Formats: sequence, C-alpha cells, structure tokens
Amino acid sequence: MSDALVQIDQLTTHAHAELAAVTDAASLEQFRIKFLGSNGSIKRLPDLLKAAPKDQKAILGQHINSLKNQISDAFDQKKTTLAQRQQTTRDALDVTEPGRRPSIGNRHILMKVTDELTELFARMGFAVATGPEVEDEFHNFIALNIPQQHPARDPLDNFYLTSQQGSSSTELLLRTQTSTVQIRVMERQRPPIRVVIPGRVYRPDTVDATHLFMFHQLEALVVDHNVTMVDLKSTVMQFIHAYFGEQTKARFRPSFFPFTEPSAEVDVWFEDRQKWVELGGCGMVHPNVLQTCNIDPDEYSGWAFGFGIERIAMRKYAIPDIRHFIENDIRFLRQF
Ligand code: DAH
Repeated sequence: MSDALVQIDQLTTHAHAELAAVTDAASLEQFRIKFLGSNGSIKRLPDLLKAAPKDQKAILGQHINSLKNQISDAFDQKKTTLAQRQQTTRDALDVTEPGRRPSIGNRHILMKVTDELTELFARMGFAVATGPEVEDEFHNFIALNIPQQHPARDPLDNFYLTSQQGSSSTELLLRTQTSTVQIRVMERQRPPIRVVIPGRVYRPDTVDATHLFMFHQLEALVVDHNVTMVDLKSTVMQFIHAYFGEQTKARFRPSFFPFTEPSAEVDVWFEDRQKWVELGGCGMVHPNVLQTCNIDPDEYSGWAFGFGIERIAMRKYAIPDIRHFIENDIRFLRQF
C-alpha cells in the first residue's frame, strides 16, 4: 500500500477514536475544528493527491472522499446523540420534588395591627382620617387648649423644625400626638363626626423597653348631639373586648389633658406580665376646642381617645419589648 493510503487509514482510525471519546458539545466542537474545520486534517488531504503518482491518483481520490464522508456522517450522528441525551437529562427532572419557595416580604406587624384596628372601628361606624406629621403650633397646641406657657411646649419635649421658638404659632414641629388631626377634621367637617385616626408621632424620649422617640397612635373622635362619657366608656370597652377577648380586664383612671374635661387614662391588664399597662388617654372634648373649630359647645358634645398602637400590638401578640418593632430583625418580623 502506498504511503498516502497508509496515512489515510491512520487518520481514519485516529478520527474515529477521538470522536468516540467526545462526551459534550465543547469537545465535539474541538473535534470539528481539528478534523473538519477549514484548517483541519481532512481538508488538507487533497495535498496528498498532488504528490501521488499519476496511476494512483484515482484510487487515492476515492479513499479521500469516502474518509471525508465517513467522518462527517459520524460527526453528525454524534451531534444528534448528544442533543438527545441533553433532552433526556432535562426530562429526568423529578417533578414531584417540592419547589423552592421564593422568599417574599410581608407587611410590618404594626401596619397589620393598624389595619385590624381601623377595620374593627369601621364595623362600629367610624371613618378613617389622616393628617400631616409635620405640624404647626396651632394644631399641635393652641387649638388643643394647650397655652403658650404650658410645659408640653418645652423644646426639650418636642422636635421643633424651626428656630424662632415660642414667638409665633407658625413654628413647625413633628407632631407629638395624633390629637392634631381632631382639629383638622373639625375644621373641615360639621357634626356628626365619627372618625379614627391612625398615625405616627414623635417625642424626644429615652428609648427603653416601653418607649421610642417615634411611635404610633390611634386617635378617635366623636362629636354629635348628646354625646356623653357613657358612650366613650362603652365604646372603649367594646373595642377592648372585641380586640383582646371578652375576658380582658381594663380600668379607667381619672387624669388630666388640656383638651378634654373630664379626662381619664385607660389601663389594660397584661396577662403575660401580670401588670396594668396604660393604653393612652381619653375624655370629653373640652368646650374651648369645639369653639376654636366653630362648633357650638352648647349644641354639640364629643369624646376622644388617643391610644398607643405599639402598646396595643404588644398586648395582643405578647411582644415583650417595644424596640423589636424598629430593629428589623427578620426573625421577629417573619412571625407575623
Ligand atoms: N394626645 C394624648 C397623648 O398623646 C392622648 C389623648 C388623651 C388623646 C386624651 C385624646 C384624649 O384624644 O381625649 O398623650
């Protein structure tokens, strides 16, 4: 056999062996470049023809052609096999395996409690009102019957946002109570009024297990003909029993607020701590407050309350420390 035929034979064996070792698309591509590519060994075979004696050219040419066809057929077949194998691997996925649940967020516990409260009061006929967190002194103090010299206006007890402190009623501050929105509601609405007002309030308090410098209140205001303290007390007790359970113990303690007369504080018994915890204040709307909002105190009367939403949430869900609400510890937040 001529040298050229021997070379062709070797190349055939070699190519088949390499193709047999191919197991993936990358090595198949390497094989293609090495043997079938424009610079590949098979493409260069016709060079042998030139050097061959004339009488052997025909037979040599036939061998070269059949090698070329053989290798490119084998290549195509391998390609199909690989593609099929990939397909079967994909089909072999175990569809009964439980999926991986994507981690999606949830609403903050305080927002959920706020919704629960406004829904409960909606069933008792209360609409929802809101007001600005940046307030002027008129709404935060003056209209609420808190005079200029009252200690509640001390700069140490408020986050004032402007500096000419004490000089005018146009000074701005972060509201210290949602009672401001009582005024805003009465400014734009005539009795009968029956609203709850959830919102954020700010006080420069030292942070501990029961105090934050930013917290939430749920305010309520009812103004109508012949509204009495009995309505106030029965509504508050109805709320406490509906939200915390029929057996929940609560008590009213006489207290003082400039914008209510008489005033009281409401305590709820915290079963987990075995002690009374104050929910907030309440009372009959002071005649001066009604008058400031152009509501005749001889014709109308009203009651109001302002309760801490964090306190309510802590009682409802046995949360031991108010700081949990703002620490954003995912292990805490995920429980609700
Ligand atoms: N605004 C009071 C506070 O933040 C709470 C309060 C007391 C609200 C009596 C009221 C009320 O509506 O009638 O301490």
